[in-house]
Amino acid sequence: EEAKGVVLVDDSSKGEAKRTKLFSVPELVGSRVRLQGWVHRLRPQKTNYFIVLRDGTAFVQCILTGDCIRTIDALDLTVESTIELTGMVNKVKEGQTAPGGVEITVDWWKTVGLAAGGEDAFEGRLRADTDPSIRADLRHLELRGETATSVMRVRAALLRAFRERFHARRVTEVTPPCMVQTSVEGGSTLFEFDYYGAKAYLTQSSQLYLETALPSLGDVYCIQESFRAEKSLTRRHLSEYTHLEAELVFIEFKDLLDHIEGMICEVVDMLLADPVSSEIIKTLNPDFVPPQRPFMRLDYRDAIAYLNEHNITKEDGSQHVIGDDIAEAAERKMTDQINRPIMLIHFPKLLKSFYMKALDSAPDFTESVDVLVPGVGEVVGGSMRISDLQELLAGYKREGIPMEPYYWFTDQRKYGTTEHGGYGLGVERFLAWLLARYTVRECSLYPRWMGRATP
Ligand code: 4AD
Repeated sequence: EEAKGVVLVDDSSKGEAKRTKLFSVPELVGSRVRLQGWVHRLRPQKTNYFIVLRDGTAFVQCILTGDCIRTIDALDLTVESTIELTGMVNKVKEGQTAPGGVEITVDWWKTVGLAAGGEDAFEGRLRADTDPSIRADLRHLELRGETATSVMRVRAALLRAFRERFHARRVTEVTPPCMVQTSVEGGSTLFEFDYYGAKAYLTQSSQLYLETALPSLGDVYCIQESFRAEKSLTRRHLSEYTHLEAELVFIEFKDLLDHIEGMICEVVDMLLADPVSSEIIKTLNPDFVPPQRPFMRLDYRDAIAYLNEHNITKEDGSQHVIGDDIAEAAERKMTDQINRPIMLIHFPKLLKSFYMKALDSAPDFTESVDVLVPGVGEVVGGSMRISDLQELLAGYKREGIPMEPYYWFTDQRKYGTTEHGGYGLGVERFLAWLLARYTVRECSLYPRWMGRATP
């Protein structure tokens, strides 16, 4: 019979075990370290416990033997418990693998926070066959998983890369408000709330505010939440999403397209050059090929012809005609067939918002662009903006928008108007494309969609 309840002694007074985060462990072969983390995996055997420890920065394999597995803590230990330990960092033996190529030979450890076991054990709560709505209720636990963690890590790297590329282009970051009293993309998807007795909305887009910052800061961008009261459940619609928007001044439509294409390609290149992100992309999306420049540019009118030539019909089975909105399913079918990013340009004026600049050559169409990518569809929407005051006023009128609340936006055309344009990119959609996620819900920390604002 093994002795139970051995008491280990922490020699912390000696201070030679260096307190460190897990990411730096591989550089510390031959030294003694002190680690804290969650028990990500636990394999208790007769003479050894194999633990994969996780601290949010990395995973490290730890081996407990001898007295280390004869403590009360060892008997009770569960997955997702937090533990603290000291031990030597060794290279793994020839032919074996472990994260970072190292393992810790533990000489002292203790449980800091014991995770529930038995019926309530972590492993039992999220299984492959767990109902999606229960899974959604348990998002806070799902986030601890390797896939969710990887997606969130690339998300952070993606935002960093965009900020870097904007900085390199001298585009300045601003933070527009989320609480607003005007709409940008039409009234049907506005979330309304009571603002000290007045009507206010959660922003759908920061575009109009970005436009007002041009005379002050020049080219500007923001990474801000946008809100859409989407009344359907699709795999690419959220009620709250992270909207990366930029507004560029003294440009023409062609410059806008080149900018969008350049940003996307440079950001993808940066992520592929980053060892952590590229490893995750390789794991989650092994078939990913970085897009080739230039992107295919497809006029809306040619897209309608393409749909008809390829028998991609409308939902009711009829053919598309010029002026039709291209619905999500048709758009995706076309994009998947073409199987590379497409810049769909020149949408009909009547399908688009009040602010879009018309094409000189065909005034019923606009200098607008959607970037479509395989698997997801639209990830970017942008356009040149009306610069002329009278034309803007006509735009309000056409869309039945009262002009008073927009006085500050109208003023841009009164005090030194200029050609300008911009775009919005859905961060979750971009990630869903890059990491081959089935739905944008996987790409948001706590996704919100119709009926879901918990946790
Ligand atoms: O095409 P949208 O509606 O364009 C605008 O809001 C412009 N005012 C942006 C601008 O020019 N500054 O939205 C832009 C992008 C879409 O291409 C899509 O990627 C994303 O925002 N998006 C959503 N993402 C997730 N869930 C939703 N409900 C989304 N609605 C739009």
